[in-house]
Amino acid sequence: MPKGLKLVERDAGGVDPAFRADVLIGLAQPQKAVPARWFYDDAGSALFEAITRLPEYYLTRAETAILERSAGKMAALIGPGRAVVEFGSGSSLKTPLLLASIAPAAYVPIDISGDFLRASAAALAAKFPGLPVHPVEADFMRRVELPGEVAGLPKLGFFPGSTIGNFVPATATDLLRTMRAALGEGALLLIGVDLVKDRRALLCAYDDAEGVTAAFNRNLLSRINRELEGDIPVDRFAHQARWNDAYARIEMHLAAQEDLAFSVSGKRFAMRRGETIHTENSHKFTRRSAGLLLAAGGWEPRACWYDPARRFAVLLAEACPPRSAP
Ligand code: AVJ
Repeated sequence: MPKGLKLVERDAGGVDPAFRADVLIGLAQPQKAVPARWFYDDAGSALFEAITRLPEYYLTRAETAILERSAGKMAALIGPGRAVVEFGSGSSLKTPLLLASIAPAAYVPIDISGDFLRASAAALAAKFPGLPVHPVEADFMRRVELPGEVAGLPKLGFFPGSTIGNFVPATATDLLRTMRAALGEGALLLIGVDLVKDRRALLCAYDDAEGVTAAFNRNLLSRINRELEGDIPVDRFAHQARWNDAYARIEMHLAAQEDLAFSVSGKRFAMRRGETIHTENSHKFTRRSAGLLLAAGGWEPRACWYDPARRFAVLLAEACPPRSAP
């Protein structure tokens, strides 16, 4: 197994300094908020894996069904010999379906969670002997530097899971442009997006009966306590999932159940009963809204596939030339 590239910063205590900065800035705002990317420490990544197996959380199964049933058509449009660059690979459960159908020249998983990255890269390398695997431990929001070994290869970006939905449009656009810059001329992007649907189904997917999503949400507070010398009373916060219709997104919040005060990294914070920390946006799309976002980010949509129940979509897009008229 290749050791891989490591681009994640750590301070003396082994903590990413951007985590501390995001939390302290976010908790000082009138609407407290912490970016959703900080959910994914090892415990959070394991909880997310558990979410993907919940009956209510249809996203993963729907996207897997698309990759299974449309692999042939995708492969025909993508062609062989590309370096597949996966952004936020996690445990890469969908990746084998893609790699098996397109005859890639290399696989570059990028993930912020080093343990998950190494485990999944090793599993992938074992499953596809002869396929060069070059893992990169990095936060793809901040830096995307691809390993030198794939410099000369045409790229296919792979961004499944509707992770793009976790970003507000301005940030999503920046991210798509960053990806386009990293992947280069002639690149393709295969991206999964969750679709707008009945709001009860959406709310259930983010507030499951077993409480796994609640545990995933609260784990963010436990992580803050552990890594940033916090004393947040985690069990005094309730998990909330809300539908924001104006922005077509599910929001996750953590609501204080009573007036409370706590400190993080030596800074004091107070919250009133009912006040929330906003922890995640999960935007939902139509084919058109996804196409518009891609175009804004420098990618021209070329094809779109759905699961049989039309709950989820996978789009293939092509890198736009530097500025296209009109
Ligand atoms: C896979 C990161 C997009 O927003 O649906 C799952 C994360 N949050 N349950 C999503 C998540 C709550 C998930 N993403």
